[in-house]
Amino acid sequence: MTLRLGDVAPDFTAASTHGEIRFHEWIGDGWAILFSHPKDFTPVCTTELGAVAKLKPEFDKRGVKVVGLSVDGVEDHEGWSRDIEATQGVALNFPLIADKNRAVAEAYDMIHPNAEATQTVRSVFVIDNQKKVRLTLTYPASTGRDFDEVLRVVDSLKLTSGSSVATPANWRQGDDVIILASLSDEQAREKFPDGWRAERPYLRYVPDPSKQTGRTA
Ligand code: BEZ
Repeated sequence: MTLRLGDVAPDFTAASTHGEIRFHEWIGDGWAILFSHPKDFTPVCTTELGAVAKLKPEFDKRGVKVVGLSVDGVEDHEGWSRDIEATQGVALNFPLIADKNRAVAEAYDMIHPNAEATQTVRSVFVIDNQKKVRLTLTYPASTGRDFDEVLRVVDSLKLTSGSSVATPANWRQGDDVIILASLSDEQAREKFPDGWRAERPYLRYVPDPSKQTGRTA
């Protein structure tokens, strides 16, 4: 099944390095990131898992849990975790799902047979506190993902959800944001009484609202 933005992330129960995970229950009231790996004991995956372990405090600060997945078993995951700690200088600090029967991979369409028949591609799903899919990424096996980008998208999603702003290309926390084009100038004046910088009538910039207040606009 193809998952689209706004769909409810499929629930599942699966074995993991942290014991059985009931996915929706495990997510709880926060956000989550589920990401897949083609195979255990592979070099690119090893570096990716180290990168996520190093970024975990940043995901924690944002109330986002992270969980990896591959179609290998828990025993393999545990042996591989020791290699990850030894080579990446950081211990795995989040669960790795062992999706041996590929039930999760199939529910999330993580196997793309024309790319590779038996392994998962590098998928990323950002799931919000309503269990809705807010971002999907699909990378080929040969290309390690940029998890700083995943963090950047989480920041954008959290800032823009239910607000009147969007974030421009290459935006980082603290950069100016864009007033939604659907807001008339009159409506915008109510939300942004200090005004904005207009480069075109439809391209209006205001400072990142979370910079001053910690809240969204
Ligand atoms: C890797 O993680 O290095 C990898 C896995 C599957 C195919 C190619 C590379």
